[in-house]
Amino acid sequence: MALTIADLHKKKAAGEKISMITTYDATFARLVEKAGIDMILIGDSLGNVIQGRPNTLAVTVEDVIYHSQCVMRGCSTPFVVTDMPFGSYQTSDEDGVRAGIRILKEGGTHAVKIEGGARVVPLVTRLVQAGVPVMGHLGLTPQSVNTLSGYHVQGKGGEADVIASDALALQRAGCFSLVLECVPRALAKRIQDSLDIPVIGIGAGPDCAGQVLVLQDALGLSASAPKFVRKFASIAELSTNALRDYAQAVRDGSFPADTESYH
Ligand code: KIV
Repeated sequence: MALTIADLHKKKAAGEKISMITTYDATFARLVEKAGIDMILIGDSLGNVIQGRPNTLAVTVEDVIYHSQCVMRGCSTPFVVTDMPFGSYQTSDEDGVRAGIRILKEGGTHAVKIEGGARVVPLVTRLVQAGVPVMGHLGLTPQSVNTLSGYHVQGKGGEADVIASDALALQRAGCFSLVLECVPRALAKRIQDSLDIPVIGIGAGPDCAGQVLVLQDALGLSASAPKFVRKFASIAELSTNALRDYAQAVRDGSFPADTESYH
């Protein structure tokens, strides 16, 4: 039985931190579930870490639905959120509602995530009314990388007040939670303290109700990662060494052994 929004809100009220990680396939979904992680995000970061693109802009609704289906075949207990990709909701609220409903119907996940503040409030309201739970995303919003002139810490100056008021507006519109990315620790604390809903931070310090990381960054599979990432393992090294051993064993004829053959 999957965690629910009510369970997440209870955790926040009890001061129990919420763990979230991005996942894009069934194999890792199984491991994430086994590790007891509360929430999974099928992030449009799949554009970077799965598709090898420089940013998330080319990711499509079809892409996120495909990866949502893969993840949902691998787990049943985490609460699973799918990113609404760039272009699926910026054109009109009608397009956004259609895309959100399609993602839940075809992807099978529990909620969608949308980047943006006041601009997306009418869409959040309509999605929630339509039965699509929405997670907000403020601070560094990677779909606006070109407008923001790159990936930088947000909310260091006057825009801190805008982010704080956007957070309140998203809660009022019905978001059950929001991601806060790459903002100063003090701003994240101010925002979490002003909200009832859980803020899930990434590069936002320890005062949020929960934390999210990109799976490949946390496992040490990414070529490079931002300052806020902690590498909890060195899977790239482990994998390269294992693959080198495999190649060597094939070359020197020690694999497959007789015991690895059929008789
Ligand atoms: O796409 C993604 O992985 C995200 C996280 C960085 C929060 O939005």
